Amino acid sequence: MTKRDLLSAADLTREDLENILELAERTKGKRSSQILAGKTLGLLFFDRSLRTRVSFEVAAVQLGGHCINIFADREMYDLEPDDQAVMDGLAEESVKDAARTLSRYVDALGIRQLRRTGSWEEDRREVLLHAYAKHATVPVVNLESTMEHPCQAIADVMTMRERLLRLQGRRITLAWTNNPLPKNIGPCHSLLQMAALSGMEVTLAHPLGYELDADVVQSATTHAERAGGNVRVVNSLEDGLRGAEVVYTRSWGSTKYWDDPERETMVKRSLQSWLIDETAMQTTQNALFMHPLPVRRGVGVTDAVLDGDRSVIYEQAENRVHAQKALLTHLLG
Ligand code: CP
Repeated sequence: MTKRDLLSAADLTREDLENILELAERTKGKRSSQILAGKTLGLLFFDRSLRTRVSFEVAAVQLGGHCINIFADREMYDLEPDDQAVMDGLAEESVKDAARTLSRYVDALGIRQLRRTGSWEEDRREVLLHAYAKHATVPVVNLESTMEHPCQAIADVMTMRERLLRLQGRRITLAWTNNPLPKNIGPCHSLLQMAALSGMEVTLAHPLGYELDADVVQSATTHAERAGGNVRVVNSLEDGLRGAEVVYTRSWGSTKYWDDPERETMVKRSLQSWLIDETAMQTTQNALFMHPLPVRRGVGVTDAVLDGDRSVIYEQAENRVHAQKALLTHLLG
């Protein structure tokens, strides 16, 4: 039987997503099955995490399994992703050997690696994640990469369904916000694709220079139209928020200035108005406010919005556990 990986939101069909969400909704708050009894997850973190690490460990334990977390940058050998390379540089172990060895110990692997080498074209290829998926003989789950954060997006869609019931035709705005140290673009790419798969009307609101990856937007547009929704792009926060039923914010780094952070810092000086406050939220249709966290309070989003009665940020975080239990059942059950 071929193993199932989850590297990208695009790895899930509409039916897969529906099955995972239905299971997550049905089992939330109920006694868990023991589907992972005797099984072990191995999670490799090349970057920091609070929610992903803890929610996966809790999910594994609640399903009767066990979880090993490795802080890969400091606890593993430097890795060579290219299996054809002559390893006479810094790398002491090939991903091929690490992935095949780990596959003899654990029943699934999770990997978080967010790269910023200076070349967007290089970083968007996610070579380490794909090398693990190629060589591991157990399922590989993306715990957030440069391009994607599918586990976050499943929990986000679950949270929207709990509040809005039916997502087809509902209006969501993914809004860029200003931040001195922007976070990764992955949660937006994954949520865009899953919102599109759900037939939502998606507005991407960002300044020029902060475009999402063109291939992801194109694919999401095709899926949205097939599912009865659409995707549009606006370069004005005001236009983007008007009439929204869900506002999902994130500060992501510019792919245009990926190789020139100093230029990006200068560009952002003129983008201070990209801020979500109560006045901005009043132009929406009493929208839910969503954010994947972590968030810098008072920068990009005000406390009043984050703590307001339309904010579902902690529901999103909690749903990581429920969605991941359903995902693990889908991949390993
Ligand atoms: N949203 C999210 O993935 O949080 P962490 O970075 O804390 O895992």
